[in-house]
Amino acid sequence: MNLILFGPPGAGKGTQAKRLEDRHGLIQLSTGDMLRAAVAAGTALGLKAKAVMEAGQLVPDDVMIAMIAERIALPDCRGGFVLDGFPRTLAQAAALDTMLDSKRLRLDRVIEMRVDDAALVRRVAGRFSCAQCGAVYHDDFKPTRQAGVCDSCGSTSFTRRKDDNAETVKARLVAYHGQTAPLLPYYRDKGILVTVDGTADIDAVSAAIEDLVAPRPGPR
Ligand code: AP5
Repeated sequence: MNLILFGPPGAGKGTQAKRLEDRHGLIQLSTGDMLRAAVAAGTALGLKAKAVMEAGQLVPDDVMIAMIAERIALPDCRGGFVLDGFPRTLAQAAALDTMLDSKRLRLDRVIEMRVDDAALVRRVAGRFSCAQCGAVYHDDFKPTRQAGVCDSCGSTSFTRRKDDNAETVKARLVAYHGQTAPLLPYYRDKGILVTVDGTADIDAVSAAIEDLVAPRPGPR
């Protein structure tokens, strides 16, 4: 099963991609995580991407397409993947189609997670992650079970993303509405676009996605 989780910054793509990875063994392909790893490692790509990301703009298509092409070619993706943050432009979507065609793979579903802009700003502003294992939390919506201790690995060290501030979120939303949302008709025309209410709580969103990817049998 090959999926795209589609939505604006803070829609919950990363949160749900992790759950799909745990439940279905799908490989999470997060271009944001890949870029942040490159920034942290100080690679040439990371140095180039850092300023663009901190301004809330999109990293150039050729860079992103090459990055995802290299990752999707690895054998672990043969068992299925969930794209989180890619594609974000029509050029990226067209390149993805070509990539998948050449490997005789197809997209099963593009799952749009719909959340209004005001809720997104609150979500992004309250997000923090474990510095050790990367588990994602929220001050109000998903706090750690024990204050200051990661549920997953027990670490007591946390980080907040540099681009998670009100000003940058606004720029990221402009990029989403201007460059990424126009992909919705592209996937609607292919008949693979489905929409879930991303404003529901995390477990309810997971249940809605589960119904789409692994429908429960109905009554006989
Ligand atoms: P990226 O890392 O992809 O950021 P994004 O798309 O802006 O998405 P986020 O990671 O902010 O949000 P999310 O939807 O994953 O939400 P999450 O689950 O964390 O990209 C960062 C930057 O990299 C871009 O701005 C760009 O510069 C560059 N980039 C990346 N890919 C690119 C590409 N293809 N082309 C060009 N440039 C690219 O949830 C958010 C918070 O809300 C969390 O705290 C979570 O706990 C909480 N939460 C989640 N779900 C719910 C819920 N249902 N109810 C309440 N709270 C919830």
